Amino acid sequence: MRILLWLNSYFSMVAISSFPAPGLELRFLICKESGAKILHLSGTPHLNINLQMNYWPALTCNLSECQEPLFDFLGSLAVNGSKTAKVNYQAGGWVTHHVSDIWAKSSAFLKNPKHAVWPMGGAWLCTHLWEHYQFSLDKDFLENTAYPLLEGCANFLVDWLIEGPGGYLETNPSTSPEHAFVAPDGKPASVSYSTTMDITIIREVFLAVLASAELLGKADIDLVERIKKALPRLPPIQFARDRTIMEWALDFKDPEVQHRHVSHLFGLYPGHTIAMDNDPDVCEAVANSLYKRGEDGPGWSTTWKMALWARLLNSENAYRMVLKLITLVPPGGKVEFEGGLYTNLWTAHPPFQIDANFGFAAAIAEMLIQSTQSDLYLLPALPRDKWPMGSVKGLKARGDVTVDIRWKEGELHEAVLWSSNDRNTVARLHYGKEVAAVTVRRGIVYRFGSGLRCLETWPLCK
Ligand SMILES: *[C@@H]1O[C@H](CO)[C@@H](O)[C@H](O)[C@H]1NC(C)=O
Ligand SMILES: *[C@@H]1O[C@H](CO)[C@@H](O)[C@H](O)[C@H]1NC(C)=O
Repeated sequence: MRILLWLNSYFSMVAISSFPAPGLELRFLICKESGAKILHLSGTPHLNINLQMNYWPALTCNLSECQEPLFDFLGSLAVNGSKTAKVNYQAGGWVTHHVSDIWAKSSAFLKNPKHAVWPMGGAWLCTHLWEHYQFSLDKDFLENTAYPLLEGCANFLVDWLIEGPGGYLETNPSTSPEHAFVAPDGKPASVSYSTTMDITIIREVFLAVLASAELLGKADIDLVERIKKALPRLPPIQFARDRTIMEWALDFKDPEVQHRHVSHLFGLYPGHTIAMDNDPDVCEAVANSLYKRGEDGPGWSTTWKMALWARLLNSENAYRMVLKLITLVPPGGKVEFEGGLYTNLWTAHPPFQIDANFGFAAAIAEMLIQSTQSDLYLLPALPRDKWPMGSVKGLKARGDVTVDIRWKEGELHEAVLWSSNDRNTVARLHYGKEVAAVTVRRGIVYRFGSGLRCLETWPLCK
């Protein structure tokens, strides 16, 4: 009971994913109290994956209104964070670091530099704003909530970037969340410049601002010009000697190759600047990085890796992560960073940490459906021999499209989809190597069968 009360005030929703075999079903219990705002929390949310992961299932699992408290919180961070940007960095816009609190703390975390020096917490959270728009196509939200926050965030970022000797725009100082490297003099270090995560988050925010500005007819403002000039000057993703993604700007030696964070893979998930369709080489390096990191880690690390394998369309490894999470932590068991599941289905860090419960639901959704504004992928990472038969209802794709899927003997049996939004731009449906051109008209339900043939359509509301 104590835990539940704490949860209700800490998070805007509680999800229980039930996991019966052999069919798969996702069930959600939403405890959304009108007054349950994240501002009531008494802990210190970490903004370098954990707070974000709590919201990962919100969009794909049709719980988008549960993000409202997060966006309120962002509004407070933007107020305090503009003071931090000015006082600490003489920069415009607003900034937030690794750890915040109920008073919307935005300044650096007082600890070891590998925790403190990370002014990207707010920028990562801002990517949720653009995602929210992509799923909902809610232009009022984009104009009145998302854009002002994104604009302030980007104003900080353009000020924060500094020209490096090679002509690229760099971040400096810079860390890769909670990780360290061996400096060229052999000493342990964690602060350098332009970590892959910094640059990836900045790229995602810049692209979101450009796309939003265009949709809102703000394409000629000064910030947009600055971003357009800065984007091509951001350093590219680099490959290390062992063909993994480089986590830092230089190919430093990693003293802990199995570190729990996979920050350098952000562009594949939760970001989208890396994709299987157009970056096969980068994706191969992402896979190499995941193999190098190994499978061990706390619950949230397991579910992040699960989602990454899903985006790599590797159902086998995504499924290995499913099993990894569903590993019983015996009562009283608390080996730090070992992950697993308690008997009540709460996920372990240990101790209990809700993020992996939410991350799990999001990653399962990612195994069953993936989308861009124009493309919808059915069962992209279904472990067909493990879950040969199943169905899922009410998942959401970008473009405000709702999707039901049934599969049998490991193959797509039928997909039913519809949108109540006439602005959706979904144009192609994918299943494995099959592609079908589609037009999802508002208010029409489409039923596709094997071979992605459209079998039937009917009006959404009779
Ligand atoms: C954030 O701003 C509010 C309103 O001015 C203030 O009450 C609060 O103390 C600030 N938080 C921090 C951590 O400075
Ligand atoms: C998605 O959520 C909305 C709002 O809660 C609800 O009205 C709708 O029925 C849900 N969609 C499905 C398919 O359950």
